[in-house]
Amino acid sequence: PGRPRVLSGIQPTADSFHLGNYLGAVRNWVGLQDSHEAFYMVVDMHAITVDYDPEVLRQRIRRSAAQLFAVGLEPSRSTVFVQSQVHEHAELAWILGALTGFGEASRMTQFKDKSAKHGTQAASVGLFTYPILQAADILLYTPPLGGKDFQVPVGEDQRQHLELTRTLAGRFNHRFGPTFVEPDAHILKSTAKIQDLQEPERKMSKSSSSPQGIIDILDEPGPLKKKIMRAVTDAETEIRYDPETKPGVSNLLTIMSALGGEPIEGLEGHFAGAGYGQLKKELAELALETFGPIRERTLELLADPAELDRMLAKGAERASEVAAGTMDTVRERVGY
Ligand code: ADP
Ligand code: NA
Repeated sequence: PGRPRVLSGIQPTADSFHLGNYLGAVRNWVGLQDSHEAFYMVVDMHAITVDYDPEVLRQRIRRSAAQLFAVGLEPSRSTVFVQSQVHEHAELAWILGALTGFGEASRMTQFKDKSAKHGTQAASVGLFTYPILQAADILLYTPPLGGKDFQVPVGEDQRQHLELTRTLAGRFNHRFGPTFVEPDAHILKSTAKIQDLQEPERKMSKSSSSPQGIIDILDEPGPLKKKIMRAVTDAETEIRYDPETKPGVSNLLTIMSALGGEPIEGLEGHFAGAGYGQLKKELAELALETFGPIRERTLELLADPAELDRMLAKGAERASEVAAGTMDTVRERVGY
């Protein structure tokens, strides 16, 4: 009965992770590496389901990996790798695709969201079957049956995909014999939902309309500070948490609490009588303290691409051992 297995991934679709990715995803991964047997991947195969440039993708894969190591994932404690380097992901996705109903796949709401801009007819089939690849990403790392727990940290946006993964695991087991452990949602204790600094009614996202609304963890100190100082607030002066009527100020408090660990009520007390400028100034300092070292470490790692590639090759090797073991069973089960 070893540690439970945990698995998650992030797309290399931007030059930097933003604050939402950091607080909502990767920072939590760091905290799981000792309590869990952790697999974390840069999901580049997902990133090619929409328009992209190959050279930019190549850079973003390395940048994403470097940031994962820089935030504190350690090769000795977690398996960090690039999805496309483990060929079993594509192979299992095909098999699971054969088990997925067209209607079932059509009900995935994220495809509707992501294809809304250009219309479903223009979207790629890869974008449509994305949740099936995601199921394969997870199920390849199934622990042995009857063994340890199997957990996937998920935010609200991924719940439906995890549900499909569980359905496909169960269906495969039923049809071909026990093979996969159905993964559970690992509910993260502290997943703050971070809002856009310029449009605090919207979540911070790389598709935000203004780069001024997004804090990138690799932002240089000057621009980072400027973004926080210029964050949209409201016409009052009181520093109080109320997302309905004070979304901007509430977002700043949420960010500060998530970064510094102090509960929001404590921050309200701390800032009693102070102005928004003070809140922003202290938040900027905290953000610089947090992200300065991460930025430096990321740049160091990027300065030595050969070493970074070696770290990733090692991760891929370890992931491949598990994935190949799973596929041996799967291939035999499906009748190949
Ligand atoms: P984006 O929404 O910018 O396209 P992704 O979907 O690639 O970002 O985000 C990867 C993960 O980062 C998400 O599954 C979620 O856990 C986390 N995340 C993204 N945006 C936020 C946010 N604004 N607040 C909290 N977590 C977020
Ligand atoms: Na998202």
